This record gives sequence, structure tokens and C-alpha cells, in this order.
Amino acid sequence: MEILYPGTFDPITNGHLDVIERASKLFDRIIVAVAKSENKKPLFSWEERIMLVKESVNGIKGVEVDSFDCLLIDYACRKNIFNILRSLRVASDFEYELQLALMNRKLHKNCETIFLMPNQKYIFLSSSMVREIALLGGDCECFVPKPVYEYMVKKINTYAKH
Ligand code: COA
Repeated sequence: MEILYPGTFDPITNGHLDVIERASKLFDRIIVAVAKSENKKPLFSWEERIMLVKESVNGIKGVEVDSFDCLLIDYACRKNIFNILRSLRVASDFEYELQLALMNRKLHKNCETIFLMPNQKYIFLSSSMVREIALLGGDCECFVPKPVYEYMVKKINTYAKH
């Protein structure tokens, strides 16, 4: 079975990666789809986010990386894959995810959203926390995949020099 895992991934964290690894045991093909999400004003450019997802998932069985800049359901139609993977960390995720899942199903009746829970050590982790910690000079090495950590350190050092 094939599934799409859409997100902004600004940046991808160990929590996202944990979900991808779990999904790789359940699905034959997982397409991690990086949304442009311009409205979210991401810290990392679309190209940077795609590159960091690619480097982070390298070697995980059945995982591919793609990107989209349109309605998720239009992207799903283009790929002809109507299974969507999302993760639920804490109860407060539920309301937003329910809305997203039901709206996508309203837009296309075949669209089903499948939820996985990350390891409990990641349930309080979020991309915005990682961004804030890194920008304020904190250590976020244990929260993100190695390529993301190395890239963030480089990027922040470049900022600091200007
Ligand atoms: N581990 C760590 N963090 C996780 C996580 C996990 N397993 N699961 C979710 N998160 C966090 C992220 O860190 C991020 O945190 P932040 O908001 O504090 O930065 C947040 O949950 C969500 O980010 P992400 O997982 O990257 O996805 P998203 O919610 O930004 O993705 C789209 C939303 C892209 C799927 C949605 O906006 C979309 O479909 N856009 C296309 C346009 C569209 O179709 N709109 C109509 C939808 S009905």
C-alpha cells in the first residue's frame, strides 16, 4: 500500500522521522511531500526543507521525497494516492487534524487519513520549538536528524557573522 505524508517540515524533526520509520514498516511506499506553505512564512526555504527531508530519510525503506504547492487533495489526485499519513502527539493536535482529515475527505470521497503516534519521547517536540531554541542559541542536537542539526548550525553561524 502507498501513502502520502504531507507537511511543512520547517524543519523535519526526530518526531517526524519516528513517524516515517513506523510507517515504513506498514506501507510499501511512503511519499513525504513537502508543502510550500508560503502562508506559514517558514524559516527554511522550500528548497532547504526538501533537501533536509531528503538527507534525513536517506536509506529508509520505501520512502521517497516530493513537494507540492497546491491543495493537498489536488496533489493526491495527481499522484493517484488517497491515503494520507499524519501524526497525533497530544490531544490538542486532534481538533486541527480532524478538521484537515474531514475537509480532505469532503473534497474527495476516497481520501482517508491514517494517524500514527510518535514515540512518547517526541510528543512535546515541534518544529517551531526547534526553530526558537536554535535561533536563541540553544542546543537542539537531540531533537533533529543529523543533517538538519549540521545545516542549522551552519546557517545560524552565517547569520551571526552578518
Ligand atoms: N513530531 C514532531 N512534530 C510534529 C509531529 C511529529 N510527529 N507531527 C506534527 N508535528 C508538528 C510540527 O513540528 C509542526 O509544529 P509547529 O507548527 O510548531 O512548527 C506542526 O506539528 C505541523 O507541522 P507539519 O507536520 O510540518 O505539518 P503541517 O501541519 O504544517 O502541514 C499541510 C499541513 C501542509 C498538510 C496542510 O497545510 C496542507 O494540506 N496544505 C496544502 C493546502 C491545502 O490543501 N489546504 C487545505 C487543507 S484541507
